[in-house]
Amino acid sequence: MARLLGELPRGAPAYEGLAARIRRLIAEGRLGADHQLPSERSMAIALGVSRTTVTRAYTELTDTGYAHARQGSGTAVRVPGSSRGALGGLLAVQDVDETLIDLTCAAPAAVPQSAAAIAWAAEQMPAQLRGTGYYPEGLPELRDLVAARYAERGLPTSPGQVLITSGAQAGLALATRLLISPGDRVLAEDPSYPNAIAAVRGAHGRLVTHPIDAAGWDAATLESTLRRAAPSVAVLMPDFHNPTGALMGASMRARLAEMFRRSGTTVVVDESSAELSLQHPSGMPAPFAAFGADVITVGSASKSLWGGFRIGWVRAPERMMAALVGTRASVDLGSSVLDQLAVSHLLRDLEPALAERRAGLRRSRDALAAAVRSQLPSWQFTLPGGGLSLWCALPRPYGPELVQAAERTGVLLVAGGRFGADGGLAANLRLPFTVDESVAAEAVRRVAVADERVRSSFATVRRRSETGRTPLIA
Ligand SMILES: Cc1ncc(COP(=O)(O)O)c(C=O)c1O
Repeated sequence: MARLLGELPRGAPAYEGLAARIRRLIAEGRLGADHQLPSERSMAIALGVSRTTVTRAYTELTDTGYAHARQGSGTAVRVPGSSRGALGGLLAVQDVDETLIDLTCAAPAAVPQSAAAIAWAAEQMPAQLRGTGYYPEGLPELRDLVAARYAERGLPTSPGQVLITSGAQAGLALATRLLISPGDRVLAEDPSYPNAIAAVRGAHGRLVTHPIDAAGWDAATLESTLRRAAPSVAVLMPDFHNPTGALMGASMRARLAEMFRRSGTTVVVDESSAELSLQHPSGMPAPFAAFGADVITVGSASKSLWGGFRIGWVRAPERMMAALVGTRASVDLGSSVLDQLAVSHLLRDLEPALAERRAGLRRSRDALAAAVRSQLPSWQFTLPGGGLSLWCALPRPYGPELVQAAERTGVLLVAGGRFGADGGLAANLRLPFTVDESVAAEAVRRVAVADERVRSSFATVRRRSETGRTPLIA
Protein backbone atom coordinates (compact mmCIF):
# COMPACT_ATOMS: atom_id res chain seq x y z
CA MET A 1 0.00 0.00 0.00
CA ALA A 2 2.83 2.40 0.85
CA ARG A 3 4.34 1.74 -2.57
CA LEU A 4 1.05 2.34 -4.32
CA LEU A 5 0.50 5.56 -2.41
CA GLY A 6 3.93 6.93 -3.25
CA GLU A 7 5.21 10.06 -1.58
CA LEU A 8 2.38 12.07 -0.06
CA PRO A 9 1.92 15.64 -1.27
CA ARG A 10 3.92 18.02 0.89
CA GLY A 11 2.46 20.96 2.70
CA ALA A 12 -1.24 20.15 2.68
CA PRO A 13 -2.56 18.72 5.89
CA ALA A 14 -1.10 15.22 5.68
CA TYR A 15 -4.46 13.55 6.29
CA GLU A 16 -5.97 15.35 3.28
CA GLY A 17 -3.09 14.26 1.09
CA LEU A 18 -3.41 10.66 2.26
CA ALA A 19 -7.19 10.61 1.74
CA ALA A 20 -6.77 12.14 -1.74
CA ARG A 21 -4.21 9.51 -2.72
CA ILE A 22 -6.44 6.67 -1.55
CA ARG A 23 -9.41 8.18 -3.42
CA ARG A 24 -7.29 8.32 -6.53
CA LEU A 25 -6.34 4.64 -6.23
CA ILE A 26 -10.04 3.81 -5.87
CA ALA A 27 -10.98 5.91 -8.89
CA GLU A 28 -8.25 4.22 -10.92
CA GLY A 29 -9.67 0.85 -9.94
CA ARG A 30 -6.48 -0.19 -8.17
CA LEU A 31 -8.32 -0.60 -4.87
CA GLY A 32 -11.58 -2.45 -5.37
CA ALA A 33 -14.75 -2.49 -3.31
CA ASP A 34 -14.29 -4.03 0.12
CA HIS A 35 -10.51 -3.97 -0.13
CA GLN A 36 -9.35 -3.93 3.49
CA LEU A 37 -7.27 -0.84 4.25
CA PRO A 38 -4.25 -1.43 6.51
CA SER A 39 -4.79 -0.88 10.18
CA GLU A 40 -4.26 2.70 11.28
CA ARG A 41 -1.20 1.68 13.24
CA SER A 42 0.54 -0.20 10.45
CA MET A 43 -0.34 2.46 7.88
CA ALA A 44 1.12 5.14 10.18
CA ILE A 45 4.33 3.18 10.60
CA ALA A 46 4.68 2.36 6.90
CA LEU A 47 4.17 5.98 5.86
CA GLY A 48 6.07 7.58 8.73
CA VAL A 49 3.10 9.72 9.75
CA SER A 50 1.21 9.99 13.01
CA ARG A 51 -1.62 7.65 13.78
CA THR A 52 -3.93 10.66 14.12
CA THR A 53 -3.19 11.50 10.48
CA VAL A 54 -4.31 8.06 9.35
CA THR A 55 -7.38 8.14 11.60
CA ARG A 56 -8.42 11.51 10.16
CA ALA A 57 -7.80 10.34 6.58
CA TYR A 58 -9.93 7.23 7.12
CA THR A 59 -12.65 9.33 8.72
CA GLU A 60 -12.66 11.67 5.75
CA LEU A 61 -12.87 8.72 3.35
CA THR A 62 -15.77 7.28 5.32
CA ASP A 63 -17.54 10.65 5.45
CA THR A 64 -17.19 11.14 1.70
CA GLY A 65 -18.39 7.64 0.82
CA TYR A 66 -15.05 6.07 -0.14
CA ALA A 67 -14.71 3.74 2.82
CA HIS A 68 -16.78 2.03 5.40
CA ALA A 69 -15.79 1.14 8.91
CA ARG A 70 -16.34 -2.46 9.87
CA GLN A 71 -17.21 -3.13 13.43
CA GLY A 72 -14.10 -4.55 15.05
CA SER A 73 -12.29 -5.16 11.77
CA GLY A 74 -10.97 -1.86 10.52
CA THR A 75 -11.82 0.13 7.43
CA ALA A 76 -12.55 -1.12 3.92
CA VAL A 77 -12.89 0.56 0.54
CA ARG A 78 -16.26 1.59 -0.78
CA VAL A 79 -16.72 2.44 -4.46
CA PRO A 80 -19.15 5.35 -4.30
CA GLY A 81 -22.42 5.37 -6.12
CA SER A 82 -22.99 1.71 -6.78
CA SER A 83 -22.10 -1.83 -6.02
CA ARG A 84 -20.11 -2.22 -9.22
CA GLY A 85 -16.80 -2.90 -7.45
CA ALA A 86 -17.40 -6.61 -7.33
CA LEU A 87 -17.64 -6.72 -11.11
CA GLY A 88 -14.56 -4.62 -11.65
CA GLY A 89 -16.65 -1.57 -12.48
CA LEU A 90 -17.18 -2.85 -15.98
CA LEU A 91 -20.36 -4.76 -16.16
CA ALA A 92 -23.77 -3.18 -16.10
CA VAL A 93 -25.41 -2.91 -12.76
CA GLN A 94 -28.95 -1.60 -12.62
CA ASP A 95 -28.40 1.26 -10.30
CA VAL A 96 -31.23 2.10 -7.98
CA ASP A 97 -30.89 5.75 -8.89
CA GLU A 98 -32.59 6.13 -12.26
CA THR A 99 -31.23 9.61 -12.79
CA LEU A 100 -27.69 8.27 -12.98
CA ILE A 101 -26.20 7.64 -16.40
CA ASP A 102 -23.99 4.60 -16.26
CA LEU A 103 -21.08 4.83 -18.69
CA THR A 104 -18.98 2.27 -16.88
CA CYS A 105 -19.98 -0.52 -19.18
CA ALA A 106 -19.46 -0.68 -22.95
CA ALA A 107 -22.34 -3.04 -23.65
CA PRO A 108 -25.54 -2.22 -25.55
CA ALA A 109 -29.09 -3.38 -24.85
CA ALA A 110 -30.43 -6.40 -26.74
CA VAL A 111 -31.17 -6.15 -30.48
CA PRO A 112 -34.95 -5.93 -30.98
CA GLN A 113 -35.06 -9.35 -32.64
CA SER A 114 -34.05 -10.95 -29.33
CA ALA A 115 -37.54 -11.25 -27.86
CA ALA A 116 -38.79 -13.28 -30.84
CA ALA A 117 -35.64 -15.41 -30.74
CA ILE A 118 -36.22 -16.23 -27.08
CA ALA A 119 -39.87 -17.10 -27.77
CA TRP A 120 -38.78 -19.37 -30.62
CA ALA A 121 -36.16 -21.00 -28.39
CA ALA A 122 -38.78 -21.66 -25.71
CA GLU A 123 -40.92 -23.45 -28.30
CA GLN A 124 -38.00 -25.76 -29.12
CA MET A 125 -37.43 -26.73 -25.55
CA PRO A 126 -39.83 -29.71 -25.23
CA ALA A 127 -37.62 -31.72 -27.58
CA GLN A 128 -34.54 -30.70 -25.60
CA LEU A 129 -36.07 -31.59 -22.25
CA ARG A 130 -35.99 -35.25 -23.15
CA GLY A 131 -32.18 -35.19 -23.16
CA THR A 132 -29.68 -34.28 -20.44
CA GLY A 133 -29.18 -30.74 -21.70
CA TYR A 134 -25.41 -31.05 -21.31
CA TYR A 135 -23.46 -29.98 -24.39
CA PRO A 136 -19.85 -29.53 -23.26
CA GLU A 137 -18.77 -28.51 -26.77
CA GLY A 138 -21.93 -26.55 -27.45
CA LEU A 139 -25.26 -27.15 -29.14
CA PRO A 140 -24.44 -28.73 -32.53
CA GLU A 141 -26.59 -26.34 -34.55
CA LEU A 142 -24.99 -23.32 -32.88
CA ARG A 143 -21.50 -24.67 -33.58
CA ASP A 144 -22.52 -25.08 -37.23
CA LEU A 145 -23.79 -21.52 -37.43
CA VAL A 146 -20.72 -20.00 -35.75
CA ALA A 147 -18.47 -21.97 -38.12
CA ALA A 148 -20.50 -20.81 -41.12
CA ARG A 149 -20.21 -17.19 -39.99
CA TYR A 150 -16.41 -17.51 -39.85
CA ALA A 151 -16.44 -18.87 -43.38
CA GLU A 152 -18.52 -15.87 -44.51
CA ARG A 153 -15.97 -13.56 -42.91
CA GLY A 154 -13.14 -15.19 -44.83
CA LEU A 155 -11.98 -17.91 -42.45
CA PRO A 156 -13.03 -21.44 -43.43
CA THR A 157 -13.99 -23.23 -40.22
CA SER A 158 -15.44 -26.63 -39.38
CA PRO A 159 -17.99 -27.01 -36.56
CA GLY A 160 -15.43 -29.26 -34.85
CA GLN A 161 -13.23 -26.18 -34.37
CA VAL A 162 -15.88 -24.34 -32.39
CA LEU A 163 -16.52 -24.61 -28.66
CA ILE A 164 -19.48 -22.66 -27.29
CA THR A 165 -18.74 -20.87 -24.01
CA SER A 166 -20.61 -18.66 -21.59
CA GLY A 167 -19.48 -15.42 -23.21
CA ALA A 168 -16.09 -14.32 -24.50
CA GLN A 169 -14.89 -13.92 -20.94
CA ALA A 170 -15.31 -17.62 -20.25
CA GLY A 171 -13.50 -18.27 -23.55
CA LEU A 172 -10.62 -16.02 -22.52
CA ALA A 173 -10.42 -17.66 -19.11
CA LEU A 174 -10.41 -21.07 -20.74
CA ALA A 175 -7.74 -20.26 -23.33
CA THR A 176 -5.45 -18.51 -20.86
CA ARG A 177 -5.86 -21.30 -18.31
CA LEU A 178 -4.97 -23.91 -20.92
CA LEU A 179 -2.05 -22.08 -22.52
CA ILE A 180 -0.35 -20.26 -19.67
CA SER A 181 1.79 -21.98 -17.06
CA PRO A 182 2.59 -20.02 -13.91
CA GLY A 183 5.38 -17.53 -14.61
CA ASP A 184 5.00 -17.59 -18.40
CA ARG A 185 5.40 -14.25 -20.10
CA VAL A 186 2.21 -13.08 -21.78
CA LEU A 187 2.03 -10.16 -24.15
CA ALA A 188 -1.00 -7.89 -23.99
CA GLU A 189 -1.82 -4.48 -25.36
CA ASP A 190 -1.64 -1.58 -22.92
CA PRO A 191 -4.29 -0.27 -22.43
CA SER A 192 -6.40 -3.39 -22.62
CA TYR A 193 -9.72 -4.84 -21.54
CA PRO A 194 -9.29 -5.19 -17.75
CA ASN A 195 -10.96 -8.58 -17.53
CA ALA A 196 -8.56 -9.92 -20.19
CA ILE A 197 -5.67 -8.77 -18.02
CA ALA A 198 -7.42 -10.37 -15.06
CA ALA A 199 -7.65 -13.66 -16.99
CA VAL A 200 -3.90 -13.56 -17.69
CA ARG A 201 -3.15 -12.78 -14.07
CA GLY A 202 -5.59 -15.47 -12.96
CA ALA A 203 -3.53 -17.97 -14.94
CA HIS A 204 -0.42 -16.58 -13.18
CA GLY A 205 1.09 -15.22 -16.38
CA ARG A 206 3.66 -12.41 -16.23
CA LEU A 207 2.46 -9.49 -18.30
CA VAL A 208 4.60 -7.97 -21.02
CA THR A 209 2.87 -4.94 -22.48
CA HIS A 210 2.68 -3.45 -25.95
CA PRO A 211 1.65 0.20 -25.92
CA ILE A 212 -1.24 1.03 -28.21
CA ASP A 213 -3.41 4.00 -29.04
CA ALA A 214 -6.07 4.69 -31.65
CA ALA A 215 -3.36 4.55 -34.34
CA GLY A 216 -2.90 0.88 -33.50
CA TRP A 217 0.06 -1.47 -33.31
CA ASP A 218 3.67 -0.70 -34.08
CA ALA A 219 5.33 -3.66 -35.78
CA ALA A 220 8.91 -2.58 -35.03
CA THR A 221 8.24 -2.08 -31.31
CA LEU A 222 6.41 -5.36 -31.17
CA GLU A 223 9.22 -7.18 -32.90
CA SER A 224 11.78 -5.94 -30.42
CA THR A 225 9.48 -6.85 -27.51
CA LEU A 226 9.11 -10.37 -28.90
CA ARG A 227 12.88 -10.66 -29.25
CA ARG A 228 13.52 -9.32 -25.75
CA ALA A 229 10.74 -11.02 -23.79
CA ALA A 230 9.89 -14.09 -25.90
CA PRO A 231 6.33 -14.31 -24.54
CA SER A 232 4.76 -17.74 -24.88
CA VAL A 233 1.27 -16.30 -25.35
CA ALA A 234 -0.13 -13.02 -26.69
CA VAL A 235 -3.66 -11.76 -26.04
CA LEU A 236 -4.71 -9.29 -28.73
CA MET A 237 -7.80 -7.37 -29.81
CA PRO A 238 -7.27 -6.52 -33.48
CA ASP A 239 -10.96 -5.79 -34.16
CA PHE A 240 -11.91 -2.46 -32.63
CA HIS A 241 -9.64 -2.82 -29.68
CA ASN A 242 -11.20 -2.06 -26.30
CA PRO A 243 -10.72 0.73 -25.25
CA THR A 244 -8.86 2.53 -28.08
CA GLY A 245 -11.11 1.42 -30.97
CA ALA A 246 -8.07 0.60 -33.14
CA LEU A 247 -8.62 -1.76 -36.07
CA MET A 248 -5.68 -3.78 -37.37
CA GLY A 249 -5.45 -3.78 -41.17
CA ALA A 250 -4.92 -6.93 -43.23
CA SER A 251 -1.24 -6.33 -44.00
CA MET A 252 -0.43 -5.69 -40.34
CA ARG A 253 -2.29 -8.89 -39.44
CA ALA A 254 -0.16 -10.83 -41.88
CA ARG A 255 3.03 -9.21 -40.62
CA LEU A 256 2.31 -9.73 -36.93
CA ALA A 257 1.06 -13.30 -37.43
CA GLU A 258 4.38 -14.11 -39.09
CA MET A 259 6.33 -12.47 -36.24
CA PHE A 260 4.42 -14.47 -33.66
CA ARG A 261 4.98 -17.66 -35.63
CA ARG A 262 8.72 -17.03 -35.66
CA SER A 263 8.85 -16.23 -31.94
CA GLY A 264 6.80 -19.32 -31.07
CA THR A 265 4.12 -17.19 -29.40
CA THR A 266 0.58 -18.57 -29.38
CA VAL A 267 -1.89 -15.82 -30.18
CA VAL A 268 -5.25 -15.57 -28.46
CA VAL A 269 -7.45 -13.10 -30.31
CA ASP A 270 -10.41 -11.55 -28.55
CA GLU A 271 -12.71 -10.42 -31.32
CA SER A 272 -15.75 -9.51 -29.24
CA SER A 273 -16.30 -6.36 -31.35
CA ALA A 274 -15.48 -7.82 -34.76
CA GLU A 275 -19.06 -7.52 -36.04
CA LEU A 276 -19.32 -3.89 -35.01
CA SER A 277 -17.84 -2.09 -37.99
CA LEU A 278 -19.66 1.22 -38.40
CA GLN A 279 -18.22 2.03 -41.79
CA HIS A 280 -17.99 -0.65 -44.41
CA PRO A 281 -18.42 -4.11 -42.90
CA SER A 282 -17.61 -5.60 -46.29
CA GLY A 283 -14.23 -3.87 -46.06
CA MET A 284 -13.31 -5.58 -42.78
CA PRO A 285 -10.08 -7.56 -42.94
CA ALA A 286 -10.40 -11.32 -42.55
CA PRO A 287 -10.22 -12.56 -38.94
CA PHE A 288 -6.67 -12.62 -37.53
CA ALA A 289 -6.74 -16.42 -37.48
CA ALA A 290 -6.87 -16.39 -41.30
CA PHE A 291 -3.24 -15.23 -41.15
CA GLY A 292 -1.82 -17.76 -38.67
CA ALA A 293 -2.47 -21.48 -38.38
CA ASP A 294 -2.43 -21.86 -34.61
CA VAL A 295 -4.30 -18.75 -33.58
CA ILE A 296 -7.03 -19.19 -30.98
CA THR A 297 -10.00 -16.90 -31.44
CA VAL A 298 -12.49 -15.89 -28.78
CA GLY A 299 -15.77 -14.46 -30.01
CA SER A 300 -19.11 -13.48 -28.55
CA ALA A 301 -22.74 -12.68 -29.19
CA SER A 302 -22.64 -10.17 -26.33
CA LYS A 303 -21.87 -7.01 -28.24
CA SER A 304 -23.50 -7.81 -31.56
CA LEU A 305 -26.74 -9.25 -30.07
CA TRP A 306 -26.98 -9.16 -26.28
CA GLY A 307 -24.67 -9.75 -23.31
CA GLY A 308 -27.49 -11.33 -21.34
CA PHE A 309 -27.46 -14.40 -23.53
CA ARG A 310 -24.02 -15.16 -22.10
CA ILE A 311 -23.03 -16.92 -25.29
CA GLY A 312 -19.54 -16.79 -26.75
CA TRP A 313 -17.18 -19.23 -28.36
CA VAL A 314 -13.62 -20.33 -28.87
CA ARG A 315 -12.43 -21.17 -32.38
CA ALA A 316 -9.26 -23.22 -32.32
CA PRO A 317 -7.39 -25.85 -34.34
CA GLU A 318 -9.40 -29.08 -34.09
CA ARG A 319 -6.51 -30.90 -32.37
CA MET A 320 -6.87 -28.51 -29.40
CA MET A 321 -10.57 -29.15 -28.88
CA ALA A 322 -10.21 -32.11 -26.51
CA ALA A 323 -7.87 -30.12 -24.26
CA LEU A 324 -10.19 -27.11 -24.31
CA VAL A 325 -13.22 -29.23 -23.42
CA GLY A 326 -11.20 -30.97 -20.70
CA THR A 327 -10.17 -27.64 -19.21
CA ARG A 328 -13.71 -26.39 -19.40
CA ALA A 329 -15.00 -29.36 -17.44
CA SER A 330 -13.32 -28.10 -14.28
CA VAL A 331 -15.25 -24.83 -14.55
CA ASP A 332 -18.59 -25.58 -16.17
CA LEU A 333 -20.16 -28.33 -18.25
CA GLY A 334 -21.80 -26.31 -20.97
CA SER A 335 -23.88 -23.22 -21.58
CA SER A 336 -27.63 -22.82 -21.19
CA VAL A 337 -29.54 -24.66 -23.93
CA LEU A 338 -32.26 -22.01 -24.08
CA ASP A 339 -29.73 -19.26 -24.70
CA GLN A 340 -27.88 -21.31 -27.28
CA LEU A 341 -31.14 -21.88 -29.12
CA ALA A 342 -32.03 -18.19 -29.04
CA VAL A 343 -28.60 -17.17 -30.36
CA SER A 344 -28.85 -19.87 -33.05
CA HIS A 345 -32.11 -18.34 -34.18
CA LEU A 346 -30.52 -14.90 -34.41
CA LEU A 347 -27.44 -16.19 -36.25
CA ARG A 348 -29.60 -17.94 -38.82
CA ASP A 349 -30.76 -14.53 -40.03
CA LEU A 350 -28.03 -12.28 -38.71
CA GLU A 351 -27.99 -9.37 -41.16
CA PRO A 352 -31.17 -7.55 -39.97
CA ALA A 353 -30.05 -7.70 -36.34
CA LEU A 354 -26.53 -6.56 -37.19
CA ALA A 355 -27.81 -3.74 -39.38
CA GLU A 356 -29.98 -2.55 -36.50
CA ARG A 357 -27.10 -2.81 -34.02
CA ARG A 358 -24.69 -0.93 -36.25
CA ALA A 359 -27.18 1.82 -37.07
CA GLY A 360 -27.89 2.38 -33.36
CA LEU A 361 -24.20 2.47 -32.45
CA ARG A 362 -23.44 4.82 -35.34
CA ARG A 363 -26.11 7.26 -34.16
CA SER A 364 -24.87 7.14 -30.57
CA ARG A 365 -21.22 7.42 -31.58
CA ASP A 366 -21.93 10.45 -33.71
CA ALA A 367 -24.06 12.12 -31.03
CA LEU A 368 -21.42 11.47 -28.38
CA ALA A 369 -18.58 12.66 -30.61
CA ALA A 370 -20.46 15.83 -31.59
CA ALA A 371 -21.24 16.60 -27.94
CA VAL A 372 -17.62 16.08 -26.86
CA ARG A 373 -16.36 18.27 -29.71
CA SER A 374 -18.69 21.11 -28.83
CA GLN A 375 -18.73 20.91 -25.04
CA LEU A 376 -15.26 19.59 -24.27
CA PRO A 377 -13.24 21.11 -27.11
CA SER A 378 -9.89 20.54 -25.40
CA TRP A 379 -10.45 16.79 -25.29
CA GLN A 380 -9.05 14.76 -28.13
CA PHE A 381 -10.11 11.51 -29.68
CA THR A 382 -9.95 9.66 -32.97
CA LEU A 383 -13.40 8.74 -34.21
CA PRO A 384 -13.35 4.93 -34.21
CA GLY A 385 -14.61 3.09 -37.27
CA GLY A 386 -16.39 0.60 -35.05
CA GLY A 387 -16.58 -0.90 -31.59
CA LEU A 388 -18.32 0.63 -28.64
CA SER A 389 -16.38 3.55 -27.21
CA LEU A 390 -14.46 6.79 -27.66
CA TRP A 391 -11.04 6.77 -26.05
CA CYS A 392 -10.51 10.37 -25.04
CA ALA A 393 -7.32 12.20 -24.14
CA LEU A 394 -7.85 14.96 -21.59
CA PRO A 395 -5.66 18.05 -21.77
CA ARG A 396 -4.13 17.14 -18.39
CA PRO A 397 -3.99 14.03 -16.19
CA TYR A 398 -7.07 14.71 -14.10
CA GLY A 399 -9.10 11.64 -15.11
CA PRO A 400 -9.45 10.19 -11.59
CA GLU A 401 -10.61 13.55 -10.19
CA LEU A 402 -13.02 13.90 -13.11
CA VAL A 403 -14.52 10.47 -12.46
CA GLN A 404 -15.29 11.55 -8.90
CA ALA A 405 -16.68 14.93 -9.98
CA ALA A 406 -18.77 13.31 -12.74
CA GLU A 407 -20.40 11.00 -10.25
CA ARG A 408 -21.62 14.06 -8.39
CA THR A 409 -23.24 15.31 -11.61
CA GLY A 410 -24.92 11.93 -12.14
CA VAL A 411 -22.60 10.13 -14.58
CA LEU A 412 -20.67 7.01 -13.70
CA LEU A 413 -17.37 6.64 -15.53
CA VAL A 414 -14.37 4.38 -15.27
CA ALA A 415 -10.98 6.06 -14.91
CA GLY A 416 -8.53 5.40 -17.75
CA GLY A 417 -6.17 3.69 -15.32
CA ARG A 418 -8.60 0.80 -15.05
CA PHE A 419 -7.55 -0.16 -18.58
CA GLY A 420 -3.83 0.13 -17.91
CA ALA A 421 -1.84 -2.96 -17.06
CA ASP A 422 -0.43 -0.97 -14.14
CA GLY A 423 -2.89 1.84 -13.64
CA GLY A 424 -1.62 5.22 -14.87
CA LEU A 425 -3.47 6.64 -17.91
CA ALA A 426 -4.76 9.49 -15.76
CA ALA A 427 -5.19 11.62 -18.88
CA ASN A 428 -7.46 9.13 -20.63
CA LEU A 429 -11.12 8.33 -20.30
CA ARG A 430 -13.32 5.83 -22.10
CA LEU A 431 -16.77 7.03 -23.13
CA PRO A 432 -18.92 4.15 -24.39
CA PHE A 433 -21.51 4.96 -27.05
CA THR A 434 -23.82 2.21 -25.92
CA VAL A 435 -26.57 4.50 -24.64
CA ASP A 436 -29.20 6.26 -26.79
CA GLU A 437 -28.24 9.45 -28.58
CA SER A 438 -30.18 11.72 -26.25
CA VAL A 439 -28.66 10.05 -23.19
CA ALA A 440 -25.19 10.37 -24.74
CA ALA A 441 -25.70 14.11 -25.22
CA GLU A 442 -26.97 14.55 -21.65
CA ALA A 443 -24.06 12.51 -20.30
CA VAL A 444 -21.56 14.77 -22.02
CA ARG A 445 -23.38 17.86 -20.76
CA ARG A 446 -22.96 16.55 -17.21
CA VAL A 447 -19.36 15.51 -17.77
CA ALA A 448 -18.63 19.00 -19.11
CA VAL A 449 -20.01 20.47 -15.86
CA ALA A 450 -17.75 18.12 -13.89
CA ASP A 451 -14.80 18.98 -16.14
CA GLU A 452 -15.32 22.67 -15.49
CA ARG A 453 -15.47 22.06 -11.73
CA VAL A 454 -12.27 20.05 -11.71
CA ARG A 455 -10.46 22.61 -13.82
CA SER A 456 -11.58 25.49 -11.67
CA SER A 457 -10.37 23.58 -8.62
CA PHE A 458 -7.00 23.39 -10.39
CA ALA A 459 -7.12 27.13 -10.91
CA THR A 460 -7.89 27.65 -7.21
CA VAL A 461 -5.05 25.34 -6.32
CA ARG A 462 -2.71 27.29 -8.58
CA ARG A 463 -3.75 30.55 -7.04
CA ARG A 464 -3.28 29.10 -3.58
CA SER A 465 0.14 27.72 -4.38
CA GLU A 466 1.15 31.07 -5.80
CA THR A 467 0.26 32.59 -2.46
CA GLY A 468 2.19 29.93 -0.59
CA ARG A 469 -0.79 27.67 0.13
CA THR A 470 -0.60 24.06 -0.70
CA PRO A 471 -1.88 22.34 -3.85
CA LEU A 472 -4.49 19.76 -2.97
CA ILE A 473 -4.39 17.97 -6.29
CA ALA A 474 -0.94 16.67 -7.02
C1 LIG B 1 -12.82 -6.95 -25.34
C2 LIG B 1 -13.83 -7.71 -24.54
N1 LIG B 1 -13.65 -9.02 -24.33
C3 LIG B 1 -14.53 -9.76 -23.63
C4 LIG B 1 -15.65 -9.17 -23.09
C5 LIG B 1 -16.59 -10.04 -22.32
O1 LIG B 1 -17.64 -10.35 -23.15
P1 LIG B 1 -18.73 -11.48 -22.84
O2 LIG B 1 -19.95 -10.77 -22.41
O3 LIG B 1 -18.92 -12.15 -24.17
O4 LIG B 1 -18.18 -12.40 -21.82
C6 LIG B 1 -15.88 -7.82 -23.28
C7 LIG B 1 -17.06 -7.17 -22.67
O5 LIG B 1 -17.01 -6.02 -22.29
C8 LIG B 1 -14.95 -7.07 -24.03
O6 LIG B 1 -15.10 -5.76 -24.24
